[in-house]
Amino acid sequence: MVSRVIPVDPFDLVIFGGTGDLARRKILPGLFRRYCAGQMPEDARITGAARSDLDDDGYRAFVAEAIREFGGGRACEDGTLEQFLQRLGYVTVDAKGEAGWAELRARVRPGLVRAFYFSVAPSLFGDLAERLRQFDLATDQCRIVVEKPFGHDLASARTLNATLARHFDESQIYRIDHYLGKETVQNLMAVRFGNMLFEPLWNAQYVDHIQITVAETVGVGGRGSYYDKSGAMRDMVQNHLMQLLCLIAMEPPARFEPDSVRDEKLKVIRALDPVDWHHVVRGQYEPDGDQPGYREDAENPRSTTESFVALKCHISNWRWAGTPFYLRTGKRLRARASEIAVVFKDAPHSIFGSEAGRHRNVLSIRLQPNEGITLGVTIKEPGPGGMRLIDVPLDMSFADALGPDAADVPDAYERLIMDVIRGNQTLFMRGDEVEAAWAWTDPLIAGWETRGDVPKPYDTGSSGPDDSLMLMHRDGRKWREIRP
Ligand code: BG6
Repeated sequence: MVSRVIPVDPFDLVIFGGTGDLARRKILPGLFRRYCAGQMPEDARITGAARSDLDDDGYRAFVAEAIREFGGGRACEDGTLEQFLQRLGYVTVDAKGEAGWAELRARVRPGLVRAFYFSVAPSLFGDLAERLRQFDLATDQCRIVVEKPFGHDLASARTLNATLARHFDESQIYRIDHYLGKETVQNLMAVRFGNMLFEPLWNAQYVDHIQITVAETVGVGGRGSYYDKSGAMRDMVQNHLMQLLCLIAMEPPARFEPDSVRDEKLKVIRALDPVDWHHVVRGQYEPDGDQPGYREDAENPRSTTESFVALKCHISNWRWAGTPFYLRTGKRLRARASEIAVVFKDAPHSIFGSEAGRHRNVLSIRLQPNEGITLGVTIKEPGPGGMRLIDVPLDMSFADALGPDAADVPDAYERLIMDVIRGNQTLFMRGDEVEAAWAWTDPLIAGWETRGDVPKPYDTGSSGPDDSLMLMHRDGRKWREIRP
């Protein structure tokens, strides 16, 4: 199966923070892969803009190195990389001053799609937005892309939204949550709304509970100073897990269009009950042999920031009243594995008797690695000797079903940047969604602070603190295993 690539319109993309870590690891290699895929027109130009004193050639050398390191082994030696680099340039700019802006103005061309990627600290968003207006770089059609963290709490997110709104219309602002760019996350919508099979069962009457797990094996070493002020709740739950929860729980939007989808996601966030603090478990990873523990990684020996969080929450609306949602995420866990599992209720009556055991259908949507969707169904164990039941997976793993090309899907950043160029905001967060998500997480975080809550230690390579298992056991349920 060969995937169809539709080239985008010619564009000028300016990356502020063009020499930063995100640009190096994700944005530039992602753009290169789109170039290799034939999606980038001849007339596309990418301009790095940052404080470092570089010229065009210096930047091209920097980008070439980034692509060799993070480009996923794409054809770097056959001339393709050289051709791609010809589309790149660099301007030294001072976000808070006047230097470089006139030159940048001279580089962007009239009449083309124009996008500015703010890959910088949020404290610079206001300055950049102001300079873009002052130096006549911003047009009514231009787009700006901003990264998480989008605020630290509700108040700071409101301030950021207000700052951007002074210079740009909401339709020009693309707030990235890279989880929305993951292939399987979008497939989740295709499965839900493209099939008759699931939607009638997608409610509290048939769904016992839903589990969302985003487990990582990495620690926070190297980014401890950011992470220690953030923790798993702000770094992962407020955004990535919340977005997954929205997509799984939302009502069918009227159309697959930006505001139809985002209106439905917002309704889910607003229908979330406040979380009972007894239903939250926080953890911190311990040292393991030579591997440092969280506190060493964060360089804060008394840190009470969580590197793991598990919680139970409820959505108070007609569809979901009574169905708990369990969310968990953490660093240095047993495996890198992200999964959403929809666990259906037991059949109302077992004609096979109690010795047949308890069997439940589970729809598992595997985000990474080994993307795919599996439906666990109950069948008879083959062979004589009576009716014994077993659970087997109906496997819709993409690589098997769609052939080798399926493994070659664009990574989240590639897809999202191309959506910016196309002007499609469906997979980007709207300002009111971000604020609603903070309004839900703020009281929990404030509660930890006032109670002086200390996270529970957990072993590297485990599934998190035992209390997280208890969160499920108390309800007669259990987490699915974290498997690579
Ligand atoms: C980022 C978080 O947004 O997502 C990181 O800041 C986390 O802490 C990362 O490691 C996980 O992304 P992915 O795509 O590797 O699952």
